Amino acid sequence: MYLSRRRLLYGTAGVAATSLAGCSAGEETTELTGFTGISMPTKTSERWDIEGAALEKQLTDFGYQAILEYGDDDPEKQVEQIQGMVDQGVEFLIIAAIDNRSLGEVLASAKDNGVYIISYDRLILDTPDVDYYASFDNYQVGVLQAEHILQRLNVEEESGPFNVELFSGASDDSNSQYFFQGGLDTLERYTYDGTIRILSGQTEQGETSTERWSGAVAMERMTGLMEDYYEDERLDAVLCPYDGISRGVIYALEDWGLTPGSDDFPVITGQDAEALSIQLIRDGEGQTQTVFKDTRDLAGVASGMVKTIVGGSEPEVNDLGTYDNGFKFVPAFLLEPVSIDESNWQEELVDSEYLTEEEIDDAVEPQAEEYDPPRN
Ligand code: GAL
Repeated sequence: MYLSRRRLLYGTAGVAATSLAGCSAGEETTELTGFTGISMPTKTSERWDIEGAALEKQLTDFGYQAILEYGDDDPEKQVEQIQGMVDQGVEFLIIAAIDNRSLGEVLASAKDNGVYIISYDRLILDTPDVDYYASFDNYQVGVLQAEHILQRLNVEEESGPFNVELFSGASDDSNSQYFFQGGLDTLERYTYDGTIRILSGQTEQGETSTERWSGAVAMERMTGLMEDYYEDERLDAVLCPYDGISRGVIYALEDWGLTPGSDDFPVITGQDAEALSIQLIRDGEGQTQTVFKDTRDLAGVASGMVKTIVGGSEPEVNDLGTYDNGFKFVPAFLLEPVSIDESNWQEELVDSEYLTEEEIDDAVEPQAEEYDPPRN
């Protein structure tokens, strides 16, 4: 009842945009000004820092007012910040959720105020109040990571068996399941035929997950895995879903006595093309791959959605049937991720001006404080 009442009042974003463009005399005609609240999860992951700033700049370049806030990986703080934005009268919210199931109530209040809600990179679940989803093909991210492992282990020529361990991301981030599933599906054939073994037997998302995407949490789990399963066995690869986790795993393996870059060091995947991980890939220092998601493009998609709606039209989407948030398939615009290793980092990242050589040279651990003692 409650749901349909709000739907009747405000409709979906598309309907609202259409009626805005075509309203007749006597109807309320509040002009949208583009006032947008940008709610980002944390500054400890490089990308959100870059993207928050990029979104703010793009929106202000359009002449719109914008508020940018970071939730410090604290779901309650993010809810408060979003409510504060609604209270200040934003017309749009661009949200990268910390806990994708914690926003239902605050988004209901936003919708009651007619706010358009764009779920940014991470799908917000269990609420009807998400209008659009701007992201990358998250399943493909996991496919690219697993393909790198298969290629480095040369599974088409070598029968192994190779020992691989799996890490997944934060369990309250809906992206984690897509990354993990893409990886699992790609490795599956080789685990069935025995080419790949997972000695820990830990293949479920729950047991492989990494709270808050924290490298320190990953480091602890990796150390435990080495102690429990690899005293006398060689570890050939670790499926890591994000660069911060990859480095936590590398630190654990270093402490275990393995030398990054040596033949004994496992293949390590990643995601986000963080400067420090690119340094490791470039210098052969442990990490061998990452997935580059050009966040400039993603910020452009989300700010472009705002601009299109302000202009009275419906934003372009390219996926209507993949991202079920528990209430509906959220109309999505998905970008393509790119696999990066030592052969293409320069062309993809430096030549495209995503990172400079100096940033790569000077990179330090962005999650330094999460470690005890802090890294760097
Ligand atoms: C995910 C995101 C990844 C990575 C990770 C940790 O939601 O899609 O690109 O940034 O969070 O921040």
